[in-house]
Amino acid sequence: PIVPVILSGGSGTRLWPESRPERPKQLLALTADETMLQLTARRTGGRERFGRPIVVANAAHADMVEEQLGHVGEDAQALILEPAGRNTAPAIALAALAANGSDPLLVMPSDHVITDVDAFHQAIQSALPLVEQGWLVTFGITPDAPEIGYGWIKVGDAIAAGVHRVDRFVEKPPRDKAEAMLASGDHAWNGGIFLFRADAFLSALEQHAPAIVAAARASMASARRDGTRIHPDADLFAASPSDSIDYAVMEKADRVAVVPVAMGWSDVGSWDALHTISACDGENNVCSGDVVMVDAANCLVRAGAGKRIALVGVEDLIVVAHGDDILVLPRGRSQDVKKLIEAMKR
Ligand code: GDD
Ligand code: MG
Repeated sequence: PIVPVILSGGSGTRLWPESRPERPKQLLALTADETMLQLTARRTGGRERFGRPIVVANAAHADMVEEQLGHVGEDAQALILEPAGRNTAPAIALAALAANGSDPLLVMPSDHVITDVDAFHQAIQSALPLVEQGWLVTFGITPDAPEIGYGWIKVGDAIAAGVHRVDRFVEKPPRDKAEAMLASGDHAWNGGIFLFRADAFLSALEQHAPAIVAAARASMASARRDGTRIHPDADLFAASPSDSIDYAVMEKADRVAVVPVAMGWSDVGSWDALHTISACDGENNVCSGDVVMVDAANCLVRAGAGKRIALVGVEDLIVVAHGDDILVLPRGRSQDVKKLIEAMKR
């Protein structure tokens, strides 16, 4: 079976005040009644081709992750708990070491929206023959903006039905490069979802980032196991360099392929993104919780437990009240929320 690997380590600072270190984005219900993690697990759940997921998460979130997955009947076969985050390359290495070498791993971020799940499954299906041959496969999204926060893929020749060679992989390019790639028409965004055999990933990592594999192997060899929970040795894992799969492997590896797919993908990276992908009322407002509005339009308004938000005569506002915090900003500025986090630290 294909083994889903769910990465649940990010902090999602741009969705403050709801997203916080103790309860980051993937553990929040942002787009539906279920959390992003639950929606992710369900995407492969109850399907013959997939085994139970391996989940790699921050040790501090173990109970929340287990409880959320249990609620939707998608318990992990293994919950690997990182004592400290070392970014995605080491996290995926831990999962690959916990799996069988020949298992195809479907690596998924825990904090994305995919509205067309059938298209997603078809894309996985078309990639499988190449995955068996040892290719590292990514899923390509048609770009519609010069995003500097994504990986960009130059889509090369077709090598199988629906599958293309990756001519070049550029992680988080500067603005001018992103603009040029958007204009070129032959580039895709990296969706952050990967499919490869566990052994193929480990050998690519061995070649391009041997210190990461070494640390992952050592920490797993002395891991403490407690039911389905796996605690890699903290000191041995901390010795790993911190790097993402994109920089450590995808930019450098040889046999990398991409499956372009239109599947209603969004990484819900900001409050503006949430407004864009959510269903609106007649005035283009997206509201949750106790919200009262008179003559308000184009707003995203989220009232947390015990809060009421009332708006009169405003447009294009984002208002989020959560716990003791209230966030107010005009639409279009939500990328700057991370600057607020920095300002609050000072
Ligand atoms: N377990 C674990 N440990 N998970 C992690 C860690 C970690 O140390 N760091 C990040 N993650 C998880 C995040 O929770 C998220 O689900 C996923 O891995 C990707 O990490 P991000 O930090 O969100 O990556 P990014 O958004 O900057 O970039 C990636 O995603 C883009 C698409 O959203 C890259 O793959 C880009 O190329 C891609 O375009
Ligand atoms: Mg992300």
